[in-house]
Amino acid sequence: MDNRRKVILDVDTGSDDAVAIMAAVCAPELEVLGICSVAGNLPIDNTTENTLRVVQMLGADVPVYRGASGPLVAQLNPLRQDMAPRKKPVFVESRGRMVRVHNEYLDLPAATIKTQDLPAAMFIVDTVRKSKEKVTLLPVGPLTNIALALKLDPTIVNNIDEIIIMGGGHAVFNTTSAAEFNIWFDPEAAEIVLQSGANITLLPLDATHAASLSLDDAKALRGLGTKTGTFAAELLEHRIEVFSAMKQALRDDIAPVHDALVVCAAIDPSVLTDVRFMRVDVDCGGGYADGQTLCDTRALPTKPRNCHVALDADPQKFASMLLKYFSKS
Ligand code: BDR
Ligand code: CA
Repeated sequence: MDNRRKVILDVDTGSDDAVAIMAAVCAPELEVLGICSVAGNLPIDNTTENTLRVVQMLGADVPVYRGASGPLVAQLNPLRQDMAPRKKPVFVESRGRMVRVHNEYLDLPAATIKTQDLPAAMFIVDTVRKSKEKVTLLPVGPLTNIALALKLDPTIVNNIDEIIIMGGGHAVFNTTSAAEFNIWFDPEAAEIVLQSGANITLLPLDATHAASLSLDDAKALRGLGTKTGTFAAELLEHRIEVFSAMKQALRDDIAPVHDALVVCAAIDPSVLTDVRFMRVDVDCGGGYADGQTLCDTRALPTKPRNCHVALDADPQKFASMLLKYFSKS
């Protein structure tokens, strides 16, 4: 009997997405049914190619599906000043050169493996419908593919075990003064997913920053002497350099690896240390708070609670899980 949790990863690869893919594929506790790409950190051509590069490097027999090329309707709201593209790459100076969080292409050989024919949202619908066991969705990019799947067939919620989302912020933000990137990029998609009735766990920046990894962790990962450990160490060191240059972490020798925390939470929820059941809505108004996740912490919220929100996480447990998964190959 196969006790592995069946998961679908949805990624906008992306440096922390790459660590999430490696962890999901290497963890013996998970069966990765497929990996969907989505536009976000980078255009869809790049996130898809980067996803394929990671899967190829792992030598994994996991199908990759190309997903949405942009947000559902975000660019139709004239109140939004940043129309197309929604994200301009942010470069910062470090050690006399310009660096960015997510380079256009991961430093891996170009992919010779290909995506499957089916578009990502259709793959999600088809797979969840047919699965004998409930499927867990792990979206760590904008929620466009997941919203499309839920709109194509809302009944799939009945065969979804959990949707564990990297997104949002309760008291920590990174894209505007009110919003986190994944939710800000496609706020309407996020609102559709949050109101879908699925069992949802949200990992906002509050939790992922609390679980930030350090240069010491990078050293330990490199010390494993494996392909995955070495690549994870390179990505972590790069993230620490950029976060330090942007003054976005609490210390100069740490950085969050947001997306990989979702994978670890799918395996061992105790990596999240303060999880509260709340009402969460997304501001889709196009104003100052556009894309904000409004977490209703009141004892008696006006609308029903819809989401388990992680506000804290355990960095030691997170690091030791990654070390375990990257110790083999
Ligand atoms: C999220 O945005 C992306 O830059 C990261 O990959 C992560 O999923 C953090 O806000
Ligand atoms: Ca991501």
